[in-house]
Amino acid sequence: MKPTNSPKTYRVKSFGCQMNVYDGERMAEMLGERGIVPAPEGEDADLVVLNTCHIREKAAEKVYSDIGRLTKGKTQDKAPMIAVAGCVAQAEGEEIMARAPAVSMVVGPQAYHRLPEMLDRAVQGERATDTDMPAIAKFAALPERKRTNPASFLTVQEGCDKFCTYCVVPYTRGAEISRPYGDLVTEARKLVDAGAKEITLLGQNVSAWSGENDKGQAVGLAGLIRDLAKVDGLARIRYTTSHPADMDDDLIAAHGEIDKLMPFLHLPVQAGSDRVLKAMNRSHTAESYLRLLERFRAARPDLALSGDFIVGFPGETDAEFEETLALVDAVGYAQAFSFKYSPRPGTPAASMEGQVAKEVMDDRLQRLQAALNRDQWAFNRATEGRTCEVLVERKGKHPGQWLGKTPWLQSAWFEGDVGIGDLVQVELVEAGPNSLAGRLRERVAA
Ligand code: SAH
Ligand code: SF4
Ligand code: F3S
Repeated sequence: MKPTNSPKTYRVKSFGCQMNVYDGERMAEMLGERGIVPAPEGEDADLVVLNTCHIREKAAEKVYSDIGRLTKGKTQDKAPMIAVAGCVAQAEGEEIMARAPAVSMVVGPQAYHRLPEMLDRAVQGERATDTDMPAIAKFAALPERKRTNPASFLTVQEGCDKFCTYCVVPYTRGAEISRPYGDLVTEARKLVDAGAKEITLLGQNVSAWSGENDKGQAVGLAGLIRDLAKVDGLARIRYTTSHPADMDDDLIAAHGEIDKLMPFLHLPVQAGSDRVLKAMNRSHTAESYLRLLERFRAARPDLALSGDFIVGFPGETDAEFEETLALVDAVGYAQAFSFKYSPRPGTPAASMEGQVAKEVMDDRLQRLQAALNRDQWAFNRATEGRTCEVLVERKGKHPGQWLGKTPWLQSAWFEGDVGIGDLVQVELVEAGPNSLAGRLRERVAA
């Protein structure tokens, strides 16, 4: 590649999970420190960072179609500089470099703190790949948080040691590590100073977080949440994603004790058949999962539940799929994500016998989603008539309309004289399948 001008504008496009959103924000901050500014809406950027996801085949293929779109019909001096980051970069770095000559940087999720150095090399015309995995070093090398949204993300834990047989995350994100307690309290304070009212603690297995508090005591996620709840100006705390194996008594108790901890739990189950769960290497059964949820609900009766599901795992029979539907009926989720099984290279399930036909998966997904949508709407209807606190996150479609989140993570829209970041009391008037129409009652100070 030829040496080129230093980029003046950037755009970061993040795909996949919220941890990628967090990483995308941190990369944007680093580029900002270098004087590179976000490209104005609708204009081409000089530098595009594709922050990719490898979880399912469709997600992974997106990177190549995006590269094609960015470079189509453009000579090298007109095309943007492209960096591929995220989990596809980690899993397929070499392949991207070989397949897409327009890409000048490939940087993995644990190495993106070195993006500025790579950019210097790219400007000289060199192509660079960095997929090292020194996760902790990354955070120390990132700039301080200076701006954020009212509802912010804070990555507290990275990586996964669970090795579910279908999943690429242990390979793309590496082993489980916890960021140190002190760094997290500091980052949370900075986020609040920058305007955050709500913080969602993130991790591929966030409930596996462990650390040592300022008194030198060993603490788990609940201990961290208890201390973050003392941060003035922080009104709401959430966490995601949890694994049923790491949920301890203290975390369950925290839901009953800490007002700032929102009544919402995302706890993926994946399937309702114990045979399938075992083949997936999930360490829970349908029964142990349901018992766990009962304990959470006993601690916090209005807890809204969310989950993830995979249909068509290799060998899943019709009868086993029915067990997933039965589990859904037993739980009554407030929302959930569901996916068709996608074989991922290098994972044990990809070479298992009994791969399920696409049409069968389509049919199962449709039936599962119908059940989940039914329950989501029922949950929304059950909150009709309640007045609750809403955090205003953005403007709605119509002038004077605002959109925010209820404690149960429902989207609520309403009209009134408010601003982004306000915490307001809203009466939930009419429930739709995906959101609720509300009426502003009063503003509350944060
Ligand atoms: N750490 C979280 C989430 C990981 S990825 C957890 O353990 O639950 C998010 C979701 O993607 C998973 O919960 C799973 O439902 C889905 N998923 C992961 N690998 C998949 C695959 N190969 N095919 C289809 N869905 C998959
Ligand atoms: Fe993937 Fe399982 Fe780890 Fe979740 S717990 S990230 S599904 S391997
Ligand atoms: Fe995707 Fe990586 Fe997140 S594979 S779901 S971006 S951890």
